[in-house]
Amino acid sequence: MDIESLKQSSVKEIQEAKTLDELEAVRIKYLGRKGLLTNFLKEIGKLTEDERRTQGRLANLAKNEFNSLFEQKKTELEQVKELSQASSQIDLTLPGRKPWLGHKHPITQVLQEIVEIFVGMGFEEKLGPEIETEWYNYTALNFPEDHPARDQIACFYLDNKYLLRSHTSPVQIRVMEKQKPPVRIIAPGRVFRPDAFDASHAPVFHQVEGLYVDENVSLAELKGTLETFCKKMFGENVNVRFTPSYFPFTEPSADIAISCVICDGAGCKTCKNTGWIEILGSGMVHPAVLENVGYDSEKYSGFAFGMGVERVAMVKYRIDDIRLFFENDIRFINQF
Ligand code: DAH
Repeated sequence: MDIESLKQSSVKEIQEAKTLDELEAVRIKYLGRKGLLTNFLKEIGKLTEDERRTQGRLANLAKNEFNSLFEQKKTELEQVKELSQASSQIDLTLPGRKPWLGHKHPITQVLQEIVEIFVGMGFEEKLGPEIETEWYNYTALNFPEDHPARDQIACFYLDNKYLLRSHTSPVQIRVMEKQKPPVRIIAPGRVFRPDAFDASHAPVFHQVEGLYVDENVSLAELKGTLETFCKKMFGENVNVRFTPSYFPFTEPSADIAISCVICDGAGCKTCKNTGWIEILGSGMVHPAVLENVGYDSEKYSGFAFGMGVERVAMVKYRIDDIRLFFENDIRFINQF
Protein backbone atom coordinates (compact mmCIF):
# COMPACT_ATOMS: atom_id res chain seq x y z
CA MET A 1 0.00 0.00 0.00
CA ASP A 2 1.37 3.44 -0.87
CA ILE A 3 1.99 6.06 1.78
CA GLU A 4 -0.67 8.43 0.47
CA SER A 5 -3.50 5.92 0.80
CA LEU A 6 -2.16 4.82 4.22
CA LYS A 7 -2.29 8.42 5.34
CA GLN A 8 -5.82 8.94 4.02
CA SER A 9 -7.25 5.79 5.53
CA SER A 10 -5.64 6.41 8.92
CA VAL A 11 -6.97 9.98 9.07
CA LYS A 12 -10.44 8.76 8.15
CA GLU A 13 -10.39 6.03 10.79
CA ILE A 14 -9.27 8.42 13.52
CA GLN A 15 -12.13 10.74 12.64
CA GLU A 16 -14.63 7.92 12.70
CA ALA A 17 -13.59 6.55 16.10
CA LYS A 18 -16.48 6.90 18.54
CA THR A 19 -14.87 5.68 21.73
CA LEU A 20 -11.42 5.71 23.30
CA ASP A 21 -11.24 1.94 22.72
CA GLU A 22 -11.96 2.35 19.03
CA LEU A 23 -9.35 5.09 18.81
CA GLU A 24 -6.76 2.92 20.52
CA ALA A 25 -7.51 0.11 18.02
CA VAL A 26 -6.79 2.56 15.19
CA ARG A 27 -3.47 3.48 16.81
CA ILE A 28 -2.46 -0.16 17.10
CA LYS A 29 -3.56 -0.84 13.52
CA TYR A 30 -1.25 1.88 12.15
CA LEU A 31 1.48 2.51 14.69
CA GLY A 32 1.53 -0.66 16.78
CA ARG A 33 4.59 -2.93 16.66
CA LYS A 34 3.21 -4.58 13.53
CA GLY A 35 1.17 -1.57 12.44
CA LEU A 36 0.76 -0.55 8.82
CA LEU A 37 2.72 2.68 9.15
CA THR A 38 5.32 1.02 11.32
CA ASN A 39 5.85 -1.65 8.66
CA PHE A 40 6.02 0.97 5.96
CA LEU A 41 8.75 2.81 7.85
CA LYS A 42 10.64 -0.43 8.36
CA GLU A 43 10.51 -1.20 4.61
CA ILE A 44 11.99 2.16 3.66
CA GLY A 45 15.51 0.90 4.42
CA LYS A 46 15.19 -1.50 1.51
CA LEU A 47 14.54 1.22 -1.05
CA THR A 48 17.05 2.99 -3.30
CA GLU A 49 18.59 6.12 -1.86
CA ASP A 50 16.41 8.45 -3.97
CA GLU A 51 13.21 6.67 -3.14
CA ARG A 52 14.26 6.42 0.50
CA ARG A 53 14.52 10.20 0.70
CA THR A 54 11.10 11.05 -0.78
CA GLN A 55 9.25 8.09 0.75
CA GLY A 56 10.92 8.69 4.13
CA ARG A 57 9.88 12.31 4.16
CA LEU A 58 6.30 11.45 3.21
CA ALA A 59 6.16 8.66 5.77
CA ASN A 60 7.37 10.96 8.57
CA LEU A 61 4.82 13.60 7.60
CA ALA A 62 2.08 10.95 7.65
CA LYS A 63 3.23 9.72 11.07
CA ASN A 64 3.33 13.25 12.55
CA GLU A 65 -0.08 14.06 11.22
CA PHE A 66 -1.42 10.80 12.57
CA ASN A 67 -0.01 11.56 16.02
CA SER A 68 -1.35 15.06 16.26
CA LEU A 69 -4.81 14.06 15.00
CA PHE A 70 -4.76 11.12 17.38
CA GLU A 71 -4.04 13.36 20.42
CA GLN A 72 -6.74 15.81 19.39
CA LYS A 73 -9.33 13.09 19.01
CA LYS A 74 -8.26 11.49 22.27
CA THR A 75 -8.83 14.71 24.23
CA GLU A 76 -12.20 15.11 22.55
CA LEU A 77 -13.31 11.59 23.39
CA GLU A 78 -12.10 11.93 26.97
CA GLN A 79 -14.27 15.04 27.40
CA VAL A 80 -17.28 13.26 25.94
CA LYS A 81 -16.74 10.40 28.36
CA GLU A 82 -16.46 12.73 31.36
CA LEU A 83 -19.62 14.61 30.41
CA SER A 84 -21.64 11.49 29.92
CA GLN A 85 -20.51 10.15 33.28
CA ALA A 86 -21.56 13.39 35.00
CA SER A 87 -24.91 13.62 33.26
CA SER A 88 -25.78 10.06 34.06
CA GLN A 89 -25.87 11.18 37.71
CA ILE A 90 -28.32 14.02 37.04
CA ASP A 91 -31.96 13.09 36.63
CA LEU A 92 -33.33 15.87 34.47
CA THR A 93 -36.88 14.61 34.92
CA LEU A 94 -36.90 15.24 38.68
CA PRO A 95 -39.14 18.17 39.69
CA GLY A 96 -37.20 21.24 40.84
CA ARG A 97 -36.82 22.07 44.49
CA LYS A 98 -38.80 25.09 45.61
CA PRO A 99 -36.72 27.59 47.56
CA TRP A 100 -37.75 27.59 51.20
CA LEU A 101 -39.30 31.03 51.69
CA GLY A 102 -40.59 32.31 54.99
CA HIS A 103 -43.46 34.75 55.39
CA LYS A 104 -44.95 37.08 57.94
CA HIS A 105 -46.35 35.52 61.10
CA PRO A 106 -50.18 35.60 61.14
CA ILE A 107 -50.12 38.03 64.08
CA THR A 108 -47.88 40.41 62.12
CA GLN A 109 -50.20 40.10 59.13
CA VAL A 110 -53.32 40.90 61.14
CA LEU A 111 -51.58 43.70 63.05
CA GLN A 112 -50.50 45.33 59.79
CA GLU A 113 -53.97 44.86 58.31
CA ILE A 114 -55.54 46.67 61.30
CA VAL A 115 -53.00 49.49 61.10
CA GLU A 116 -53.54 49.86 57.34
CA ILE A 117 -57.30 50.24 57.73
CA PHE A 118 -56.80 53.12 60.16
CA VAL A 119 -53.99 54.68 58.13
CA GLY A 120 -56.51 54.68 55.28
CA MET A 121 -58.80 56.75 57.51
CA GLY A 122 -56.09 59.32 58.23
CA PHE A 123 -54.50 57.87 61.37
CA GLU A 124 -50.72 58.04 61.77
CA GLU A 125 -48.74 55.07 63.10
CA LYS A 126 -46.84 55.71 66.37
CA LEU A 127 -44.82 53.38 68.56
CA GLY A 128 -44.01 53.48 72.26
CA PRO A 129 -41.58 51.65 74.57
CA GLU A 130 -42.31 48.26 76.11
CA ILE A 131 -40.69 49.31 79.38
CA GLU A 132 -42.83 51.98 81.01
CA THR A 133 -43.33 53.85 84.25
CA GLU A 134 -46.43 53.88 86.45
CA TRP A 135 -47.14 57.38 85.22
CA TYR A 136 -47.65 56.29 81.61
CA ASN A 137 -49.16 52.87 82.25
CA TYR A 138 -51.61 54.02 84.95
CA THR A 139 -51.46 57.45 86.58
CA ALA A 140 -51.66 59.71 83.54
CA LEU A 141 -54.44 57.45 82.25
CA ASN A 142 -56.49 58.41 85.31
CA PHE A 143 -56.10 55.18 87.27
CA PRO A 144 -56.14 56.42 90.87
CA GLU A 145 -53.40 54.91 93.00
CA ASP A 146 -54.52 51.77 94.79
CA HIS A 147 -57.64 51.67 92.62
CA PRO A 148 -58.77 48.11 91.71
CA ALA A 149 -58.90 49.10 88.01
CA ARG A 150 -55.09 48.74 88.04
CA ASP A 151 -55.57 45.04 88.75
CA GLN A 152 -57.70 44.59 85.67
CA ILE A 153 -54.81 45.74 83.58
CA ALA A 154 -52.18 44.31 85.94
CA CYS A 155 -48.52 44.45 84.94
CA PHE A 156 -45.14 42.93 85.69
CA TYR A 157 -43.03 45.33 87.76
CA LEU A 158 -39.33 45.33 86.94
CA ASP A 159 -38.42 47.34 90.05
CA ASN A 160 -39.91 50.28 91.98
CA LYS A 161 -39.67 52.55 89.01
CA TYR A 162 -40.14 50.52 85.84
CA LEU A 163 -42.67 48.00 84.60
CA LEU A 164 -43.55 46.16 81.40
CA ARG A 165 -46.48 47.98 79.83
CA SER A 166 -49.71 46.01 80.22
CA HIS A 167 -51.52 47.84 77.42
CA THR A 168 -50.74 50.19 74.53
CA SER A 169 -52.73 53.09 76.08
CA PRO A 170 -49.50 54.70 77.45
CA VAL A 171 -48.65 55.61 73.84
CA GLN A 172 -51.65 58.00 73.95
CA ILE A 173 -49.98 59.94 76.74
CA ARG A 174 -46.52 59.91 75.15
CA VAL A 175 -47.86 61.31 71.88
CA MET A 176 -50.11 63.96 73.47
CA GLU A 177 -47.29 65.17 75.72
CA LYS A 178 -45.23 65.95 72.63
CA GLN A 179 -47.89 67.15 70.23
CA LYS A 180 -50.76 69.64 70.19
CA PRO A 181 -54.16 68.66 68.74
CA PRO A 182 -55.22 67.51 66.25
CA VAL A 183 -53.84 64.09 67.17
CA ARG A 184 -54.93 61.09 65.16
CA ILE A 185 -52.76 58.06 65.85
CA ILE A 186 -52.76 54.29 65.70
CA ALA A 187 -50.25 52.52 67.96
CA PRO A 188 -49.57 48.79 67.61
CA GLY A 189 -47.33 46.90 69.98
CA ARG A 190 -46.52 44.10 72.38
CA VAL A 191 -47.91 44.09 75.92
CA PHE A 192 -47.29 41.95 79.00
CA ARG A 193 -49.59 40.71 81.76
CA PRO A 194 -49.22 38.31 84.67
CA ASP A 195 -51.87 36.04 83.15
CA ALA A 196 -52.10 32.28 82.86
CA PHE A 197 -51.09 30.78 79.54
CA ASP A 198 -54.30 29.03 78.50
CA ALA A 199 -56.57 28.77 75.46
CA SER A 200 -57.66 32.41 75.68
CA HIS A 201 -54.86 34.16 77.64
CA ALA A 202 -51.17 34.72 77.06
CA PRO A 203 -48.69 36.60 79.27
CA VAL A 204 -47.39 38.33 76.14
CA PHE A 205 -49.69 39.49 73.39
CA HIS A 206 -50.33 42.40 71.02
CA GLN A 207 -52.65 45.36 71.02
CA VAL A 208 -53.52 48.19 68.69
CA GLU A 209 -54.42 51.51 70.28
CA GLY A 210 -56.21 54.37 68.57
CA LEU A 211 -56.62 58.02 69.59
CA TYR A 212 -58.26 60.99 67.96
CA VAL A 213 -58.28 64.37 69.74
CA ASP A 214 -59.37 67.66 68.24
CA GLU A 215 -62.01 70.35 68.69
CA ASN A 216 -65.54 68.94 68.59
CA VAL A 217 -64.77 65.25 68.29
CA SER A 218 -68.02 63.44 69.05
CA LEU A 219 -69.23 60.01 70.06
CA ALA A 220 -70.85 59.76 66.61
CA GLU A 221 -67.36 59.88 65.06
CA LEU A 222 -66.17 57.16 67.41
CA LYS A 223 -69.11 55.02 66.37
CA GLY A 224 -68.70 55.65 62.66
CA THR A 225 -64.95 55.06 62.70
CA LEU A 226 -65.12 51.79 64.59
CA GLU A 227 -68.12 50.50 62.66
CA THR A 228 -66.20 51.17 59.44
CA PHE A 229 -63.20 49.34 60.85
CA CYS A 230 -65.26 46.28 61.87
CA LYS A 231 -66.84 45.97 58.45
CA LYS A 232 -63.50 46.32 56.67
CA MET A 233 -61.90 43.77 58.95
CA PHE A 234 -64.65 41.17 59.27
CA GLY A 235 -66.87 41.80 56.24
CA GLU A 236 -69.65 44.17 55.23
CA ASN A 237 -72.32 41.89 56.66
CA VAL A 238 -71.31 42.01 60.31
CA ASN A 239 -73.45 43.93 62.77
CA VAL A 240 -71.68 46.09 65.32
CA ARG A 241 -72.94 46.48 68.88
CA PHE A 242 -71.99 49.16 71.42
CA THR A 243 -72.57 48.50 75.11
CA PRO A 244 -71.68 50.69 78.10
CA SER A 245 -68.45 49.78 79.87
CA TYR A 246 -65.86 51.22 82.20
CA PHE A 247 -62.26 52.34 81.69
CA PRO A 248 -60.65 54.99 83.94
CA PHE A 249 -59.31 56.90 80.90
CA THR A 250 -62.60 57.21 78.98
CA GLU A 251 -66.00 58.62 79.88
CA PRO A 252 -68.36 57.38 78.63
CA SER A 253 -66.81 54.03 77.75
CA ALA A 254 -68.12 51.38 75.40
CA ASP A 255 -67.37 47.78 74.57
CA ILE A 256 -67.76 46.95 70.92
CA ALA A 257 -68.86 43.56 69.70
CA ILE A 258 -69.52 42.17 66.25
CA SER A 259 -72.20 39.66 65.38
CA CYS A 260 -70.66 36.21 65.66
CA VAL A 261 -68.91 35.39 62.37
CA ILE A 262 -69.29 31.67 63.01
CA CYS A 263 -73.04 31.33 63.72
CA ASP A 264 -74.09 34.68 62.23
CA GLY A 265 -75.65 35.69 65.52
CA ALA A 266 -77.68 32.55 66.11
CA GLY A 267 -75.59 31.43 69.07
CA CYS A 268 -72.71 28.94 69.23
CA LYS A 269 -69.77 27.82 71.38
CA THR A 270 -67.46 30.62 70.22
CA CYS A 271 -69.88 33.41 71.14
CA LYS A 272 -71.02 31.50 74.22
CA ASN A 273 -74.53 31.49 72.79
CA THR A 274 -74.81 35.26 72.91
CA GLY A 275 -74.50 35.78 69.15
CA TRP A 276 -71.86 38.51 69.79
CA ILE A 277 -68.08 38.59 70.02
CA GLU A 278 -66.40 41.46 71.90
CA ILE A 279 -63.33 42.79 70.17
CA LEU A 280 -62.75 46.40 71.21
CA GLY A 281 -62.72 48.68 74.21
CA SER A 282 -63.40 52.33 73.52
CA GLY A 283 -64.71 55.62 74.78
CA MET A 284 -64.48 59.39 74.84
CA VAL A 285 -61.16 60.48 76.30
CA HIS A 286 -61.65 61.42 79.96
CA PRO A 287 -61.15 65.19 80.60
CA ALA A 288 -58.69 64.30 83.38
CA VAL A 289 -56.47 62.53 80.82
CA LEU A 290 -56.50 65.61 78.56
CA GLU A 291 -55.58 67.82 81.55
CA ASN A 292 -52.78 65.40 82.52
CA VAL A 293 -51.01 66.10 79.22
CA GLY A 294 -51.70 69.84 79.36
CA TYR A 295 -54.62 69.96 76.93
CA ASP A 296 -57.55 72.28 77.63
CA SER A 297 -60.42 69.83 78.21
CA GLU A 298 -62.97 72.59 77.63
CA LYS A 299 -61.61 73.14 74.16
CA TYR A 300 -60.68 69.63 73.06
CA SER A 301 -62.39 66.30 73.07
CA GLY A 302 -61.50 62.95 71.63
CA PHE A 303 -62.09 59.26 71.41
CA ALA A 304 -59.83 56.29 72.04
CA PHE A 305 -59.97 52.58 71.48
CA GLY A 306 -57.92 49.47 72.02
CA MET A 307 -58.05 45.92 70.77
CA GLY A 308 -56.15 42.66 71.11
CA VAL A 309 -54.52 41.53 67.88
CA GLU A 310 -54.56 37.82 68.80
CA ARG A 311 -58.25 38.08 69.57
CA VAL A 312 -59.00 39.75 66.22
CA ALA A 313 -56.95 37.08 64.43
CA MET A 314 -58.73 34.29 66.31
CA VAL A 315 -62.15 35.63 65.34
CA LYS A 316 -61.14 36.31 61.75
CA TYR A 317 -59.53 32.89 61.21
CA ARG A 318 -61.68 30.89 63.67
CA ILE A 319 -58.77 29.79 65.83
CA ASP A 320 -59.82 28.39 69.20
CA ASP A 321 -56.51 28.44 71.09
CA ILE A 322 -54.25 31.50 71.45
CA ARG A 323 -51.24 29.28 72.22
CA LEU A 324 -51.08 28.19 68.56
CA PHE A 325 -49.65 31.62 67.71
CA PHE A 326 -46.64 31.10 69.97
CA GLU A 327 -45.72 27.48 69.32
CA ASN A 328 -43.95 28.10 66.01
CA ASP A 329 -45.48 24.97 64.53
CA ILE A 330 -44.87 25.34 60.81
CA ARG A 331 -48.00 23.29 59.99
CA PHE A 332 -50.07 26.00 61.67
CA ILE A 333 -48.12 29.05 60.48
CA ASN A 334 -48.03 27.90 56.86
CA GLN A 335 -51.81 28.15 56.63
CA PHE A 336 -51.64 31.94 56.58
N1 DAH B 1 -56.25 49.57 77.37
C1 DAH B 1 -57.45 48.75 77.45
C2 DAH B 1 -57.08 47.34 77.86
O1 DAH B 1 -55.96 46.95 77.67
C3 DAH B 1 -58.17 48.74 76.14
C4 DAH B 1 -58.79 50.07 75.82
C5 DAH B 1 -60.07 50.34 76.19
C6 DAH B 1 -58.06 51.03 75.18
C7 DAH B 1 -60.68 51.54 75.93
C8 DAH B 1 -58.65 52.27 74.90
C9 DAH B 1 -59.97 52.50 75.30
O2 DAH B 1 -58.00 53.25 74.29
O3 DAH B 1 -60.56 53.70 75.03
O4 DAH B 1 -57.92 46.61 78.31
